[in-house]
Amino acid sequence: MNVLLTGNLGYVGTVMSAYLQTKGHRVRGFDRGYFNECALEHPVPADEQVEGDVRSFDAAALLGIDAIVHLAGLSNDPLGELDPQLTHDVNVGGTGRLARAAKAAGIGRFVFASSCSMYGLADGTVALDETCPQNPLTAYALSKVEAEAALRELTDERFRPISLRFATAYGYSARLRLDLVVNNLVASALARDVVALESDGSPWRPLIHVEDMARAVECALEADLGRLGGDAYNAGTESENYQIIAIAREVAARCGGVPITAKPPGGDHRSYNVAFGKIRAAFPSFRPVWTLGTGIDDLIARLRALGRTAIVDDDAYYRLRKIRALAAL
Ligand SMILES: NC(=O)c1ccc[n+]([C@@H]2O[C@H](COP(=O)([O-])OP(=O)(O)OC[C@H]3O[C@@H](n4cnc5c(N)ncnc54)[C@H](O)[C@@H]3O)[C@@H](O)[C@H]2O)c1
Repeated sequence: MNVLLTGNLGYVGTVMSAYLQTKGHRVRGFDRGYFNECALEHPVPADEQVEGDVRSFDAAALLGIDAIVHLAGLSNDPLGELDPQLTHDVNVGGTGRLARAAKAAGIGRFVFASSCSMYGLADGTVALDETCPQNPLTAYALSKVEAEAALRELTDERFRPISLRFATAYGYSARLRLDLVVNNLVASALARDVVALESDGSPWRPLIHVEDMARAVECALEADLGRLGGDAYNAGTESENYQIIAIAREVAARCGGVPITAKPPGGDHRSYNVAFGKIRAAFPSFRPVWTLGTGIDDLIARLRALGRTAIVDDDAYYRLRKIRALAAL
C-alpha cells in the first residue's frame, strides 16, 4: 500500500515508518520537521519525504496514495497548555483539512492517532471503555476529542476513518521523547541513580510500546472498512495499565535497585485505567508484544549501547522545551 504518514519525523512516526516499510508498505512522509534533528542515531528514512504543515495541507501530496496515517500534531499535555489556540489549529484544524483533502481525493482509509488522555480523570478501579464519558483536562486532550468529532462529521459510506485512542507511549525510538513517563524515569535512573517522581505515584496510566502502536496501525490499514471504519478504538492492552508508582518500581528494579523519590499529589490530575476489549474483538490480529519490563530493558540497553545514558537534561528530547526554543528563534 502507498501510505502517507504525517508526523513521520516524530517519536512515534520514526518507529512506525520503518515498521510499515518492513511490512511491505511504501511510506511517503509528511512533516513540518520540528524535531527532525532531535535524533540519537540516524533514523531509517521514509521512501519519500514531503516537508509541509497540515494547517495548509496541499492535496498534491496525496497523488498515488492509498491510505493515510495521521500522526502529525502538537503532542504533549503541557505543550498544549503553552498555546491552546495553536494546539487547536494544528490538531483539530489540521486534521480537518487533511481529512477533507483525503475525502475529496477518494481516499477512504484514514487512521488517526487519537489518545486515551481524553478520559482525563476517573476512578482507577473502573476500566474505561469507548462508551464512557470523556473528560478532557487539557487543551491537548480536548483537541483529540474535537478532531475525532470532525472526522465523524466527514464519515460516510466511502470515507471511513479509524481513530485509535492510544495509551501513553514508551520505548526506544531514534527520535526519543523524555517527556513520557516511562522514558523519563529510565533516563532519570540512568543519569542520576534515582527514580524521581513528580507526584505521589498514585495516578493510573495505560501504556503502549511505540512499536506496538505501529502494530495497531498495521491492523487498521488492513481492516474491513465497511464493518470497522468510522469508529474509535482504545489501543493498548489491560495488562499494561499501571499506577505510576508501579512503573517507578519496575524502572528502579531494572536500573540496579536505585531509590525512588515521590512528591505530594501535584497539579497533574490525569488518572485513567482503560479497557481494550473493543480493539481485541475488532482486530483479533492486534497483539501487543512488548511489556513494560521488556520495554524498559530494551531502552536501557539501547541508551547504553549508544553511550547516551546522560541525556536526561537535554532539551532536544522534551517537546515543550524544544518548541519554546524554536518559537524564540
Ligand atoms: N506519544 C504518546 O504517548 C501518544 C499517545 C497517544 C497519542 N499520540 C499521538 O500520536 C501522534 C504522534 O505522537 P509523537 O509522540 O510521535 O509526537 P511528536 O511530537 O514526537 O511528533 C509529532 C510530529 O508532528 C509534526 N508536526 C507538528 N505539527 C505539525 C504541523 N502543523 N504540520 C506537520 N507536521 C507537524 C512534528 O514535526 C513531529 O515530527 C500525535 O498525534 C499524538 O497526539 C501520542
